[in-house]
Amino acid sequence: MQQLKVIAPGRINLLGEHLDYNHGVVLPAAIDCNIAFEFLENSSGTVRIDALDISENWEFTLTDLPNLNVSGWKSYVKGVFLLLNFEHEWPHSFIGLDIKFKSNIPIGAGLSSSAALCCGLAFGLNALFKLGKTRFELALIAQQTEHQFAGVNCGLMDQVASLFGQKDQLLAFDCLSQEISNFSLPLVGVKLFLIDSKVKHNLAESAYNERRTQLEEAFKKALALFPALKSWRDIEPEQVAILCADLDATSQKRLHYILDEMARVEKVQLLSNKIAKQVTKGKEEKIDDLNSLKAQYQQLGALINETHAGLRDLYEVSCIELDFLQHELLNNPGVLGARMMGGGFGGCLLVLALEQCDPLKDLSHLFKNYTQQFGAQVLCYPIQISEGVHLVKHD
Ligand code: GLA
Repeated sequence: MQQLKVIAPGRINLLGEHLDYNHGVVLPAAIDCNIAFEFLENSSGTVRIDALDISENWEFTLTDLPNLNVSGWKSYVKGVFLLLNFEHEWPHSFIGLDIKFKSNIPIGAGLSSSAALCCGLAFGLNALFKLGKTRFELALIAQQTEHQFAGVNCGLMDQVASLFGQKDQLLAFDCLSQEISNFSLPLVGVKLFLIDSKVKHNLAESAYNERRTQLEEAFKKALALFPALKSWRDIEPEQVAILCADLDATSQKRLHYILDEMARVEKVQLLSNKIAKQVTKGKEEKIDDLNSLKAQYQQLGALINETHAGLRDLYEVSCIELDFLQHELLNNPGVLGARMMGGGFGGCLLVLALEQCDPLKDLSHLFKNYTQQFGAQVLCYPIQISEGVHLVKHD
C-alpha cells in the first residue's frame, strides 16, 4: 500500500493586492504556516478523510461524490477530487484511501488556508496516483475549486504562492504572461510580521466577486473604445481619462486603485533590487551603510502604506478594525509601514518594522485599545518565508 506525506503552505503578499485577476504582477511568498497531509492507500473502496485539528471526518465513495451536498472544508475536497476527474478515470486503479490533514494556518486571516488545502490535496493525489499534472495545472485545479465549489472567483496568486514558493524568496508572478520568477528582499535591521485582527466580515466573498465584475465590465468598455488594448497594463493616461467619462464613480475608483497598485509593484521590484545589490556590495566590501538602507526601507514602508490607503478609499475592501490598527500602528516610531493583506474585510495586516520593534511590548497599549473598542484580541505572527508544497521524506 502506497503512502505519502505532503506539506502545503499558506502565503503572504508583499504588494500587488487584487492585481492577480486584473492581469498585474503580484509579489507573494509561501510561509511556514501550513497544512500537513498524510495519504495512505487502503482497501476499503472509499475515501476516508480526517480533519485532525477540528476533529471532523468524512467518508465517501467516488461514485456517490458528485451528488453529495457538502459545505466548508468538504466542498474543497469534493472540488479537487471532481476536477481531477477522479470518479471517471480512476476507479480501476483505486482501491481506497485514507487522508489525514492538520492545519496551523489561521482560518479567515487572509493567509489562504483554502488554497493550501486544495493545493496540498491535489498535489498529494497527483503524486500518489501518478496523474502527471504539472504544478501549474494543479494550481489551476485548486483555483477552479474555489470558483466552482466555494463560489469565490479568485485569481491565481494564492495557489501559485503555495505551489511555487521558495525558501527565503519572494515570487514575482506575472498574471498576464503567467511567468513566475523569484527575487530576494534582504531585511537588514528591519523585519516583516503579521498582525491578525481576528475579525472576518461576512460580505467578504460577495464583495470580492463584485470587485472582479466591476473591473471586467470596465474593461469591456475600455475594449469598445480601444480595441487594441490587451490588458489594464497597457492603457495610457489619456485613454484612462476618456474611459473614465464612461464609468460610474465607483468603477473609476476601482480602476484608479488597480493602476496605482501596478505602478507601486514596479517601484517595489526596483527597490528590492536596489536593496539586494546594496546588501551584497556591503557584505563584499565589509561596510554597513545602514543609513541609506534605512531610507530604502522607509520608501518601501511608504509604498505599503499607500497600498493600504488605496484598498481603504478606492477599492473599499478594508474595514474599521483594520483601518484602526493600521492608523495607530503608524504612530509607533518603530513601524515603517502597514497594510491589510489578502482579499480584505478582516484578516491580517502586514507590518514592516525596525528589527528592535517588539510588538508584544511596544504595541501592547494599542492592542489593549483595540480589544476595548472591538472586542477582539489581536495575534502577532512572525513571518518565515518557506518552500512551497512538497513531499515529506519518510522516516
Ligand atoms: C484573495 C484571492 C486572491 C487575490 C487576493 C487579493 O486572497 O484568493 O486571488 O485576489 O485575495 O490580492
